[in-house]
Amino acid sequence: MRIVLVTGKGGVGKTTVAAATALACADLGIRTLISSTDPAHSLADAFDVPLGDDPVEVAPQLHGQQIDTNEQMERSWGTIRDQLKDVFDWGGVDSLTAEEFLVFPGMDELFALLEVNRMARSGDYDAVIVDCAPTAETLRLLSLPEVLSWYFDRVFPTERKIMRAARPVLNRFTDLPVPEERMFDAAQDLFGGIEEMRELLGNTSISSARLVINPEKMVIDEARRTYTYLHLFGYGVDGVIVNRIYPDEVDGAYFARWREIQTAHLATIDEAFSDVTRLRLRLFDREMVGVPLLRVMAEELYGDVHPLDDLVASDPFRLNSQGEDVVLSMDVPFVGKEEVDVVRHGDELYLSIGSYRRSLVLPDSLRQRDVSRAHLDGGHLSVTVVER
Ligand SMILES: Nc1ncnc2c1ncn2[C@@H]1O[C@H](COP(=O)(O)OP(=O)(O)O)[C@@H](O)[C@H]1O
Ligand SMILES: [Mg+2]
Repeated sequence: MRIVLVTGKGGVGKTTVAAATALACADLGIRTLISSTDPAHSLADAFDVPLGDDPVEVAPQLHGQQIDTNEQMERSWGTIRDQLKDVFDWGGVDSLTAEEFLVFPGMDELFALLEVNRMARSGDYDAVIVDCAPTAETLRLLSLPEVLSWYFDRVFPTERKIMRAARPVLNRFTDLPVPEERMFDAAQDLFGGIEEMRELLGNTSISSARLVINPEKMVIDEARRTYTYLHLFGYGVDGVIVNRIYPDEVDGAYFARWREIQTAHLATIDEAFSDVTRLRLRLFDREMVGVPLLRVMAEELYGDVHPLDDLVASDPFRLNSQGEDVVLSMDVPFVGKEEVDVVRHGDELYLSIGSYRRSLVLPDSLRQRDVSRAHLDGGHLSVTVVER
């Protein structure tokens, strides 16, 4: 089973590349699903067929779906939301305000990912290619399972215990709608799903991200940051696809200049992403819509390269022992010292890079240790933990 998350800046060709990748897999006989989690769905346009929430066949061995986040949300969140709403009503909170409380940022995409988790575990597919939203949303989304499970692990069990004890008393003295077991069960299902999804996406031998870029300064800059943030959240990057390269036959003074600019950017890309497989794709002379053209694209893009087996995910972090000490190391290639912060709190290690933050629960063996130093060198962060 493999999951490939295709992401990149808006408009770089994510959907088209994801579709071509899925087709390349299917043409090798791999049972493949392509799922779009981008609320601005355009997968149906890329294949030029109608697509909905349920997977439908778009080519031999290939199914496609555009995940309907409302439907997914109703399924996983409906019971919990209704219950909480009762509590808000009782408390005199007007319904508009209550609605706002019951919707958190990134929620839609979260439910889309839960659907990806279900599909990946359905046994119907050997590869799931995910056409993701533009980078910023995708990053927020990929950090969400971490944040939520942290939150729920702590808050929920306590809440449930308190409610169990308080219910008889509350029912006697007030008309406060007390959450039913049904809601806790729905919540348990939801968190179970989030946990499963985290396991699946955090396993670099199953899941990896593939970055689509164009040879343009702003696109490259954003991709570098994305690369680092993906590592921060524990996702491996298995490839960089450079799309829309002007082919040799484009000539004339006007485009000669553009070709020069692209050549310089291509050199930058090779250097910046030297650790990952880079594949190039030219700008075609037409919009690449429909299975036959996507297949042409897939053949040019992957050629003899196997779209899954030949692209290996980078390693987000490693734990090594150095004598008595243990060193956690991580590639953070494009950040400065001032952007990195490491704080130890209880049994957790908080890593921040720029505006993103991640908490890592330390393995049992390391809980009795202290962080002695964090060191950034040549795009490499190492955190040393020592015996107390
Ligand atoms: N290499 C390419 N050559 C020609 N057209 C392309 C190429 N890559 C993408 N396109 C076209 O560009 C448009 C936008 O691509 P799309 O994959 O939807 O981008 P994104 O998903 O990143 O927003 C589509 O019409 C697509 O057919
Ligand atoms: Mg798209």
